[in-house]
Amino acid sequence: MPDKPRLLITRKLTDAVLMRAARDYDVTVNADDHVFATDELIAKCQDVDAVLPCHSEHFSADVISALPKRLKIIANHSVGVDHVDLVAAKDAGVVVTNTPDVLSDATAEIAMLCMLGAARRGAEGDAMIRAGKWDFWSPAFMVGRQVTGKRFGVLGMGRVGQVAAERARGFGMIVHYHNRKPVPEHLAKGAVFHDTVEGLFANSDVLSLHCPATPQTTGIINKDTIALLPDRAILVNTARGNLVDEAALADALESGKLFAAGLDVFCDEPGGNQRISALKNVFLLPHIGSATEETRDAMGYRALDNLDAYFKGREPGDRVA
Ligand code: DGY
Repeated sequence: MPDKPRLLITRKLTDAVLMRAARDYDVTVNADDHVFATDELIAKCQDVDAVLPCHSEHFSADVISALPKRLKIIANHSVGVDHVDLVAAKDAGVVVTNTPDVLSDATAEIAMLCMLGAARRGAEGDAMIRAGKWDFWSPAFMVGRQVTGKRFGVLGMGRVGQVAAERARGFGMIVHYHNRKPVPEHLAKGAVFHDTVEGLFANSDVLSLHCPATPQTTGIINKDTIALLPDRAILVNTARGNLVDEAALADALESGKLFAAGLDVFCDEPGGNQRISALKNVFLLPHIGSATEETRDAMGYRALDNLDAYFKGREPGDRVA
């Protein structure tokens, strides 16, 4: 029997995923789950045929140029691939895959949590009780915004955006969206298409971001585009932090232009944005959109499916480069 391909798994994955990986690959696992520094990542990659990283490992053009010739595939445990320089990978002949579909439900759930947490002041209420400061009630106390009947704007009507739209409909919201092109009606399900970002923003009481981070979308939420939103709108971001100019967002939350924001992702991770964290009208989570037991297994299996296909000489189903 030929030797198993050598595989580096950069972070701690679920037991089920690690067991399957060990069955089919000669696996090196990052046992204590720390984030590899760039030099360490390069060093760890030197004697493997494949790497299974998360979005926490950055494969810049420099890192890719330092990979050994034997390393042929980066099988990501993420749908987002903004941590990999896809052009450099393609030029170097390194295959890159991701894990779409399997995290759409979990991420859409977190988008709903962020929306409701922001609209109904969830973090503020929780913090008040934990601090022993809940000593008052009145009809005027902690009044939030109801989402029922409001417009739910989806920026990026891909897989996650479509599920988020479905969930928002469950709250009686009217879905509007912008995408590079309209999606077929059986997926749009009556959602109103806007061919410009401006059109969508002007029609979003809640704006939820579901587009990938690319040079074109970096900073797409900024002073000028926030001004297009209806007054007292709510921003939800479960996609990538760098879609948002966080200083402009903090300004809009402080001035009351935005009622609130629900954020699962930040420009600096881990950590977040101190100015935003100091505000009351935000509901914040530490990038846990896909963090459910079911989805972590499914993401790991999907990454392994892509590796299996590659090493059996087939085209990996989720090849992005
Ligand atoms: C993704 O899959 O892109 C999530 O952000 C988790 O990495």
